[in-house]
Amino acid sequence: MAYETIIVEIEDHVALIKLNRPDALNALNAQLMTELCKALKEAQANDKVRCVILTGSEKAFAAGADIKMMSEKGFVDVFSEDLFGPESDAIMSIRKPIVAAVSGYALGGGCELAMMCDFIIASDTAKFGQPEINLGVMAGLGGSQRLTRFIGKSKAMDMNLTGRFMDADEAERSGLVSRVVPVKKLMEEARSVAEKIAEKSMITTMAIKESVNRSYETTLREGLLFERRVFHSLFATEDQSEGMAAFVEKREPQFRDK
Ligand code: CAA
Repeated sequence: MAYETIIVEIEDHVALIKLNRPDALNALNAQLMTELCKALKEAQANDKVRCVILTGSEKAFAAGADIKMMSEKGFVDVFSEDLFGPESDAIMSIRKPIVAAVSGYALGGGCELAMMCDFIIASDTAKFGQPEINLGVMAGLGGSQRLTRFIGKSKAMDMNLTGRFMDADEAERSGLVSRVVPVKKLMEEARSVAEKIAEKSMITTMAIKESVNRSYETTLREGLLFERRVFHSLFATEDQSEGMAAFVEKREPQFRDK
């Protein structure tokens, strides 16, 4: 379908979703969030797609929730419509891997959207922040919860209480991003990572995504049991037989998602 606030391109097995509100530094308004959720659901349903890249522009991944849209609202509005709630649930329900490729500003809801992806590849110009405090509010899409789990309490408090920006090097040191590359190489790197993931068995990929995400929701003991049982269950797949046979026979595996 035709979108107005995002651009979707599917090449080989990778769906590239580009946030596209350049005049507002990709601020997240209702239309963009609705379109993003639709595009992700389409990627989920499209058998050809095996990995998604979510990106913005060189200047901004997303500079946050749309402040102009929010400035008109009061408590009753945002509470009644559960502002951003259904969309964030929809994004978190996507089972295919999503890689965030972040350049420039990833602030407020932008940083939080990147954290909803499975991991973040950042350009050396990326700047992360939770500056909502400067607007008289606080993070509402994971900036006080996911960010704390990713970078620890001290840095999360610092980011949320001062509203300061964190550069790419600090984000990598702190565990917020998985790797940093020169800005001109960002999309090449993201594509190469997504293509590598797309070569794997989709059954295994989805099982890994589910297991890693489970670690945020449960105790270590329960998480380890969940992991072990999922590991055991993968022995019921043809891809496990194929993957192990290929190793023994010294050849590349041909996974069939079965
Ligand atoms: N919402 C709406 N519009 C935004 C926006 C946002 N979050 N961020 C930038 N824009 C708009 C600006 O209003 C401006 O539009 P006009 O040309 O019509 O005035 C345009 O994008 C370009 O922005 P700037 O002129 O400000 O660009 P800059 O390079 O001087 O500064 C910036 C860049 C530091 C990112 C600055 O735009 C900024 O501070 N933006 C707001 C960041 C922010 O506070 N984000 C948190 C939002 S609240 C939130 O996200 C809540 C939540 O957790 C869910």
